[in-house]
Amino acid sequence: VGFRFLGELFYRAKPRHFPLRNETTARTTMSALTLPPSIAPFLTSYLPRARSDRPFVTLTYAASLDSHLSLSPGVQTALSGLETKALTHYLRTYHAAILVGVSTAAADNPGLNSRLENTPLAQQPRPIVLDPRFRWWFTREARVLRTAREGKGNAPWIFVASSALHAEEERVRWVEEAGGRVIPLDDPQEGERWSWRYLLSTMHQLGLESVMVEGGAGVINDLLSAENRALVDSVVVTVAPVYLGQGGVNVSPQREERERAAVRFRDVEWAVLGRDVVMAARLELE
Ligand SMILES: NC(=O)c1ccc[n+]([C@@H]2O[C@H](COP(=O)([O-])OP(=O)(O)OC[C@H]3O[C@@H](n4cnc5c(N)ncnc54)[C@H](OP(=O)(O)O)[C@@H]3O)[C@@H](O)[C@H]2O)c1
Repeated sequence: VGFRFLGELFYRAKPRHFPLRNETTARTTMSALTLPPSIAPFLTSYLPRARSDRPFVTLTYAASLDSHLSLSPGVQTALSGLETKALTHYLRTYHAAILVGVSTAAADNPGLNSRLENTPLAQQPRPIVLDPRFRWWFTREARVLRTAREGKGNAPWIFVASSALHAEEERVRWVEEAGGRVIPLDDPQEGERWSWRYLLSTMHQLGLESVMVEGGAGVINDLLSAENRALVDSVVVTVAPVYLGQGGVNVSPQREERERAAVRFRDVEWAVLGRDVVMAARLELE
């Protein structure tokens, strides 16, 4: 109870990045998650802090013992137990935004909200989907849109390359009707992706002060590359007791050419939660 109270204090202390709307309390549904008491103190020092230059970045995902996110590309694979799921949903309430790549949005049809019980709308993060070619072929019934229409989360902002966006599309209308936006960004250079500096500066300009990057592997490996590592402030990884085997969607950043190029961490803390373990840490930078 004490820790739960502590968690609620943090809730109130959290700086908000959006104008507070009417604080409708999310209904406690069958699928609402309850926070185990050890989670709030475990995560305290890894929570977002104000930065003036760019949004605070938390990298988080759940992986198997062989560092896979799913059995194969496009396949949603349950990994986290209820306790670690609650941790992820708790962490979401501290972030202004949560970000996924388009393949995750397409594969998982995610709600991208916090299902922690009694989470008010004002504590819900803004979902962001990186979809340069606007190839996420969702319908009006996509979970993230339904969740927003039901007042249980925010509608997504979908980042799309200008040349791929046709404003008359019904997908744009569905997103806007739920309160979201399809946001045109500069076209990436031929064969390239948007750089993380460009993405974070765009999010900063949009008023987002923190972002929780949740995957998939394409996004995570890119952020863990030598070029981008300095942009990651906290890392929270759940490891589940399962092997997914070869052919899975693997988190394993590109190795640098030079010697001793392993990606190492500092300020490492581990917690055992149910059947899973969770590592909270910061990246070691040279
Ligand atoms: N266990 C977990 O915690 C977890 C979390 C998330 C996802 N997943 C799983 O992971 C799998 C999906 O992962 P994935 O690696 O295949 O895909 P992904 O990372 O979700 O999406 C990759 C795509 O997003 C776009 N993208 C990403 N970074 C970009 C950038 N910097 N600039 C422009 N576009 C960018 C690109 O789209 P284009 O190809 O159109 O250019 C890219 O191909 C699914 O099976 C999902 O279930 C698991």
